[in-house]
Amino acid sequence: MSFPKGFLWGGAVAANQCEGAYLEDGKGLSVPDMLLGGDVNTPRTFLPVTDPNAFYPSHEAIDFYHHYKEDIALFAEMGWNVFRLSINWGRIYPNGDDAEPNEAGLAFYDSVFDECKKHNIEPLVTICHYEIPWAIVTKYGGFSNRAVIDLFVKYCETIFRRYKDKVKYWLTFNEINIACMGEGGIGNLYGLGIMEEEDINATEPIKLSDLKSNRQRTFEALHNEFVASAKAVILGHEINPDFMIGNMICHITVYPLTPDPKDVLACTVEDNMKNNLCGDVQVRGAYPIWAKKYLAEKGVDTSYMTEEDAEILKKGTVDFYTFSYYMSNCVTTHANAETTQGNMSHGGKNPYLKASDWGWQIDPDGLEYTLEFLADRYPGVPLMVVENGFGAFDKVEEDGSIHDDYRISYFKSHIESMKKACENGVPLIGYTTWGPIDLVSAGTGQYAKRYGFIYVDRHDDGTGDFSRSRKDSFFWYKKVCESNGEVL
Ligand code: BG6
Repeated sequence: MSFPKGFLWGGAVAANQCEGAYLEDGKGLSVPDMLLGGDVNTPRTFLPVTDPNAFYPSHEAIDFYHHYKEDIALFAEMGWNVFRLSINWGRIYPNGDDAEPNEAGLAFYDSVFDECKKHNIEPLVTICHYEIPWAIVTKYGGFSNRAVIDLFVKYCETIFRRYKDKVKYWLTFNEINIACMGEGGIGNLYGLGIMEEEDINATEPIKLSDLKSNRQRTFEALHNEFVASAKAVILGHEINPDFMIGNMICHITVYPLTPDPKDVLACTVEDNMKNNLCGDVQVRGAYPIWAKKYLAEKGVDTSYMTEEDAEILKKGTVDFYTFSYYMSNCVTTHANAETTQGNMSHGGKNPYLKASDWGWQIDPDGLEYTLEFLADRYPGVPLMVVENGFGAFDKVEEDGSIHDDYRISYFKSHIESMKKACENGVPLIGYTTWGPIDLVSAGTGQYAKRYGFIYVDRHDDGTGDFSRSRKDSFFWYKKVCESNGEVL
């Protein structure tokens, strides 16, 4: 068998993109609850006060909050043994700094995990998937404030103790490197919970691409997240030594656009800053040797890194490395090269690759390349692909069927690539596809950008009855899971 016995097969979602029920049972507002929808040509906007006339997709999302039993049964029907989901921090601590946790929120996830157990599905829990409580943004300035490290650790302690016998696999921050992806404020807001004062107080919608940012603040906040993540790992292992606690990196694999050595060097810098900086800190427990110089060149004063922090980073290294992989980009120093965008980043267009309708360059070979690169960089560390998927427009036929062969072909080629990596000795332990059930897109806020094996009747104009149905890819992925990746 190419995939090892016990390989984890499943899918991944985030609370804010699927649960809905945004104020139910005591939940507080979190960052995504302030975001309106967009599309491939229209950036999402942020509207600071929830406007009763505006359509905020996360408020109802796909109503997983009330459909989770039906959804988990469908996942089980596909033969999954793992389900990646996030806990919405604002369900547990509605304001982020409440003295006591919200029992109704805790009880909801108890029921979700019990349902998983009933179907022999192992939960893989992301502790923070772009879901920083809104009050932490406005009152504390997000992770730029060191006090938020303790708020996060307190939240972790609550859920680690509560679910210590129900959840074994944890990820601290989704795509912790999102703040390194560009110079814009989107990573600051999604990943770090930071907004500049004038944006917070805006009265008109602001394009996410126009949010202001301050590099010094970004990298200080990222450092605070590293410390928070490491403290969570240390604490989690004290609470249950069997916990497997991982990081999560948005891996935008990059290639030099030309063999010009200047392109190769520029590509290395980009790879280091966007992908390796965060991975190295969380896996190796220290900043890489080049980090201080790179940051200094960007004008960042790193005197915020204390010796005490360095000790914590060293002790709190992760047990496994996980990442999202959707696409790759090119890097060049040559003027006038064609560019493209995708997954909250920009890069050079690769003439050898096709792209999705959203411009994300499809590169299955890049997944094998990435897995083998990571296995070399972090010897012996188990790897897991926790997001991979294809956002597309789906057509529902008159009889209700959905023939999404484009999605099957995307997955097939990526799984083949993982298979080769396993055969080459990469310690890959699992795979969760992104958006196994249609949900709200993080980047555009659309429903029309569908990722699922399961179709959800819900649309960008707010219509739809939330009913679920199986696409062709559902039956295909079922065979993949049941055959441990042998039947593709
Ligand atoms: C990842 C995020 O970057 O990409 C998910 O972790 C997101 O939250 C996914 O949904 C796909 O991106 P998008 O913009 O198509 O939803």
